[in-house]
Amino acid sequence: MSQPKNILMLAGDGIGPEVMGEVKRIIDWSNAKGDTNFVVEEDLVGGACYDAHGVALTDETLDKAHAADAVLLGAVGGPKWDGVAREHRPEAGLLKLRKEMDLFANLRPALVFDALIDASTLKPEIVRGLDIMIVRELTAGVYFGQPRGIEERDGVAYGFDTQVYSEPEIDRVARVAFDMAKKRTGKVCSVEKANVMESGVFWRSVVSKLHDGEYADVELSHMYADNCCMQLVRWPGQFDVIVTDNLFGDILSDCAAMLTGSLGMLPSASLGSKDETTGKVPAMYEPVHGSAPDIAGQGKANPLATILSYSMMLRYSFNLGTQADNLDQAVQNVLAHGYRTADIMSDGMTELSTSDMGKAVVTELEKLG
Ligand code: IPM
Ligand code: MG
Repeated sequence: MSQPKNILMLAGDGIGPEVMGEVKRIIDWSNAKGDTNFVVEEDLVGGACYDAHGVALTDETLDKAHAADAVLLGAVGGPKWDGVAREHRPEAGLLKLRKEMDLFANLRPALVFDALIDASTLKPEIVRGLDIMIVRELTAGVYFGQPRGIEERDGVAYGFDTQVYSEPEIDRVARVAFDMAKKRTGKVCSVEKANVMESGVFWRSVVSKLHDGEYADVELSHMYADNCCMQLVRWPGQFDVIVTDNLFGDILSDCAAMLTGSLGMLPSASLGSKDETTGKVPAMYEPVHGSAPDIAGQGKANPLATILSYSMMLRYSFNLGTQADNLDQAVQNVLAHGYRTADIMSDGMTELSTSDMGKAVVTELEKLG
């Protein structure tokens, strides 16, 4: 790797800075070894940014995010900012990054690590070997639809949001899902509520049209979102790639995450469209877990989801598949040695702090060469 690549780190709130520190440890190690040439810049987002600047994301930081080769985000939010107006809440910083960078495809793998099989609340035989990829639409739907608001009409107060999707918005995320399925077991399940919502009927028709026209070799099924929740818990092994809208994707990915029993282990990638001139794909990587303010600053947080998010960055943004494989393997090895952070601790295992877990991963990377 000769050309330096720029990574913008936005650690955010709560445990964000702690888990991010462990990725920095890994980057320092691989930079020193010459495997990577990453220039890391750090900035604020979420509540931390609100405290410093009165907004959850500054224009300067957004410019840096656009300019960076990839963004790594920790987590945002916490009770400290509960009273802040919605447009300045920590979550608004994250939503603005997603929207402004047009990161429409959110990849949320739900993977069960063999060593952690007992961490799931489901029976081992139901979750063993589980490997689901949820592709969540991230920049449209009810999260951003207009009109929205709380207002009074004829003396009655109303609260409302709008679920709206254009054909290109559905088409582009469905393409990502079909392409992903081709590299996996070739199955896509598209999820909506076509039995109740017009936007669901539309979603289904756009996905079907794309499938029949360009991806007939992929096996496509459709499912209502409520049924999908149930099926995820009943028989998760039936799923490979799930593609769904912003809101259902938010809900289903939490459900799928919990099947693995270890929210602290799950990474995600949010990708935009390739710029045909530069070849760059805007990308942001973040752990699925939140800011866990209750354990922030105590060295108890699990850094593995953020480390695995960085591994997704190596793979998707920098085409460093071998290094990503090594990092994934290092995480597996650490678990196989019985090392655990508090969230995944069980009898007979060795509990490590956040930083000791990061160090253990580097030790394994060293062994892998
Ligand atoms: C997620 C989170 C966010 C979302 C919040 C923090 C705005 O739950 O990334 O799943 O709802 O998208
Ligand atoms: Mg969520």
